[in-house]
Amino acid sequence: MFGLKRKKDVKSSKNFYITSPIFYPNANLHLGHAYTMTVCDILARYHKVIGEEVYFLTGADENTGKVVKAAFEQNKDVGVFLDEISKGFENLFSRLNISYSQFIRTSDKERHWPGAIALWKKLTEAGDIYPGTYSGLYCSGCESFYTEKDLIDGKCSIHLSVPEKIEEKNYFFKLSKYTSVIKEKIEKGELNIIPDSRRNEVLALLGRGLDDVSFSRPIKNVPHGIPVPGDSEQVIYVWCDALVNYISALGFGEGEDALFEKFWPADLHVLGKDILRFHAAIWPAMLLSAKISLPKNLLIHGFITSGGHKMSKSIGNVINPIDLIDEYGADAVRYYFTREISPFDDGDMTKEKFKEAYNANLSNGLGNLASRIMKMAETYLPTPTPIPTSSFPEEFTKHLDNFDIQKAADFIWSEISRLDESIQKTEPFKLVKVDEKRGQEEIKNLVIGLSRIAHMVGLILPETADKILKAIKENKMFSSSLFPRKD
Ligand code: MSP
Repeated sequence: MFGLKRKKDVKSSKNFYITSPIFYPNANLHLGHAYTMTVCDILARYHKVIGEEVYFLTGADENTGKVVKAAFEQNKDVGVFLDEISKGFENLFSRLNISYSQFIRTSDKERHWPGAIALWKKLTEAGDIYPGTYSGLYCSGCESFYTEKDLIDGKCSIHLSVPEKIEEKNYFFKLSKYTSVIKEKIEKGELNIIPDSRRNEVLALLGRGLDDVSFSRPIKNVPHGIPVPGDSEQVIYVWCDALVNYISALGFGEGEDALFEKFWPADLHVLGKDILRFHAAIWPAMLLSAKISLPKNLLIHGFITSGGHKMSKSIGNVINPIDLIDEYGADAVRYYFTREISPFDDGDMTKEKFKEAYNANLSNGLGNLASRIMKMAETYLPTPTPIPTSSFPEEFTKHLDNFDIQKAADFIWSEISRLDESIQKTEPFKLVKVDEKRGQEEIKNLVIGLSRIAHMVGLILPETADKILKAIKENKMFSSSLFPRKD
């Protein structure tokens, strides 16, 4: 998984660099985080299957006060705490079949820190870092300062808590200097923001102008943070530290940057709407200041809500994805995320809705179709059906090229219905008894249709696709139900 290549690679015909946000390791990941990772994974698998060289980065955002607090509450050493949590993250990713290439940890002094320090120096050389005093309303849950008008009834709208008033010495970054250039790049589509509603939101924000942002913290507040070059009293603040992971993981700043040369600029950053401002304004400004190319696409997804609220550790309405995987399997969770939630909007998730979708579309839909076809194949075909190689249908790839994984899944399920209807119409199980040759031809066609579905569905349900393709290869019925019905 950590297949880092340190030699210069020959540029392949097309590379695809996709990143997830790096997660705060102050607690285990919840379903919302699993959602982000599944969206990334489906797109990463798609680009791999169409022949591109994919690099998929994920990781943990470790240099934060949240972590110190959480470790303290559990009476654990910060390092031990972080190691345990990171193992938990990787365990979830493995249970969910997430095909990532690297897991970067921002506490990694060899892998991450040189990149953050190198970038800070570039911003300083550009004259974009200056000292100042910051005072503001700080939400420790968001690790962000807010103005009065950002708050609802004086509270942070995400954490529903009253922010603290803070005054301190900080270094600032001249974000204001880059407002119009970023706006222009977004308008021209050089930095593409998906969906349009989020693009418009960012353009409106940029239209109002951006203030400079605080880029450091006193070391006493974040003792394990990355030191500011030339000032031992300050550490680099969250965003200038965390966002840099996208390039530090590729070796930027380390002297050996073959991966950086090969994969940067990123083809796609996937992120939730709460961190849009950081990715669509601060990150591009940092890159422009450092004269580094901008990422090509930002895909902004909504929140998985539970009872109408964002699923959040601070609110306490989280569903543990591991419990759901234990009960239904990884593919069922991946299915729900893909088909039942729009990648561009919020989606609510309750256990009842989950079970209903599982029974209707996996147990009855795909599971039932695959077992009917394989039962006919095993009973009436003497040998396995050879599967012709085929590429994805155009409509399917069109949706994936637009990052619309839900529409791509809808397309697969419409193919499932089409195949179901074709069985009803031709009744090959009857036909084969009166006209063996024609009946067998019909069954072979169904097996080929099923293999096409498996090929597409493999991006979303990799375990199920493997089982279907194995059954086809062996011309055998499944030994157990693909998706046992849940009552
Ligand atoms: N550490 C920052 C990101 C830094 S990226 C350079 C962070 N971490 S987080 O753990 O709070 O969130 C990580 C991602 O999970 C974000 O994209 C966030 O939007 C997403 N989600 C957190 N809760 C979510 C839901 N309930 N639903 C969907 N995604 C959610 O922010």
